[in-house]
Amino acid sequence: MPSPSYDVKDISLAEEGRSRIAWAYREMPVVGLIRERFRKEKPLKGIRIAGCLHITTETANLALTLQAGGAAVVLCASNPLSTQDDVAAALVEAGIPTYAIKGEDDAIYYRHIGAALDSQPQITIDDGADLVTTIHTKRSDLVAGVIGGSEETTTGIIRLHSMHRDGKLRYPMIAVNDAQTKHLFDNRYGTGQSTIDGITRATNILWAGKKVVVCGYGWCGHGLAMRAEGHGAHVIVVEVEPVRALEAVMDGYQVMPLSEAAKIGDIFITVTGDKNVIDAAHFKVMKDGAILANSGHFNAEINIPALTKMAKSKRTVRTYVEEYALPDGRCLYLLGEGRLINLAAAEGHPASVMDMSFANQALCAEYMVKNRGKLEVKVHPVPEEIDKEVARLKLRAMGVAIDKLTAEQERYLASWEEGT
Ligand SMILES: NC(=O)c1ccc[n+]([C@@H]2O[C@H](COP(=O)([O-])OP(=O)(O)OC[C@H]3O[C@@H](n4cnc5c(N)ncnc54)[C@H](O)[C@@H]3O)[C@@H](O)[C@H]2O)c1
Repeated sequence: MPSPSYDVKDISLAEEGRSRIAWAYREMPVVGLIRERFRKEKPLKGIRIAGCLHITTETANLALTLQAGGAAVVLCASNPLSTQDDVAAALVEAGIPTYAIKGEDDAIYYRHIGAALDSQPQITIDDGADLVTTIHTKRSDLVAGVIGGSEETTTGIIRLHSMHRDGKLRYPMIAVNDAQTKHLFDNRYGTGQSTIDGITRATNILWAGKKVVVCGYGWCGHGLAMRAEGHGAHVIVVEVEPVRALEAVMDGYQVMPLSEAAKIGDIFITVTGDKNVIDAAHFKVMKDGAILANSGHFNAEINIPALTKMAKSKRTVRTYVEEYALPDGRCLYLLGEGRLINLAAAEGHPASVMDMSFANQALCAEYMVKNRGKLEVKVHPVPEEIDKEVARLKLRAMGVAIDKLTAEQERYLASWEEGT
């Protein structure tokens, strides 16, 4: 059966979506500059692009930019809870078939991925590698037509490296997450701020004085710890990697195993990309009233099945807040079904930071088309000139000028003979 031409919650929400997309665009000057150039040059003319991304106002601006470049764009959600229904409706009205409904179940989620793939994409843009894995496992008929793909997040890139290592990857991929102008800003400042925002909107808690346990001190963990501390929280970091643990210690945080932190934390937040980081043994020793949230890509970081099994009852006490009552009388509170809380309960990263991530995505799509057939089948870094160009354009848009090396300094930095 052919896929319907779109699947959104309510097409009449389009006007509200359009207005919010335009609001976000004001904060996306780099994407704006690229859109204007794409409109004139049409570097993506006739190219079919499928994006499996969080359907937010920022993603809409990326999609409209690719469309301005001449591409036929189709979108589906990269998480069942992250879709903004008004944005999905506005995208459909803008001529971008979109398959995404906030709160869709797993069956619909995968049906939507299938519908996006029915467009026979030549470029895939993923946030979590769902398009690329579905193509490789269930829709290998599409491989021959794919020029390449790009990946937005850390978890997706880990999956791609595993596919390549196992000899399974069949088309070239670009690791957009690994661009400096992506993870140093989006993962750190974006996830830091928006995760605090999501937890605050879901619970309305005061952060000052709380013991906040950050599991994973990667780029997201750095941002989150920094922002929680800024709100007056006492931050405890949990890590498995010694260099990052050491960095957390020297950044001024307390570092300890989760088995210890579990006994004293008020709020636990996972950002590891790993599985069952918070598990049954931890639930057993947590304080009554402890809050659990995840901002990592998948809802696997908190062992929800184990929590459900331990609980004698469960009820919703506020939107996005589930109370799990344990037999000994303690209650634990899980936010947003353990899905990335910044997108489930808030609006995801602010537009200004997605400006850089999505500028990389747009320029990488152009790069793949320019190098069609020439890219080796592997996971490529974002070309350095794209990364630097995004930083230059962002600085310019922010009105920040920087210095230039003098000819003498260039010679000095390139030489090995000159000393004291
Ligand atoms: N919420 C969002 O909007 C958003 C944005 C960007 C990235 N992400 C996701 O967040 C996750 C983290 O991304 P990142 O860029 O910070 O990754 P990263 O690889 O830089 O950091 C992850 C850290 O977690 C640590 N870790 C792994 N297993 C652990 C465990 N069992 N206990 C404690 N620490 C553990 C690792 O050692 C590493 O330091 C990924 O799933 C990524 O896809 C989410």
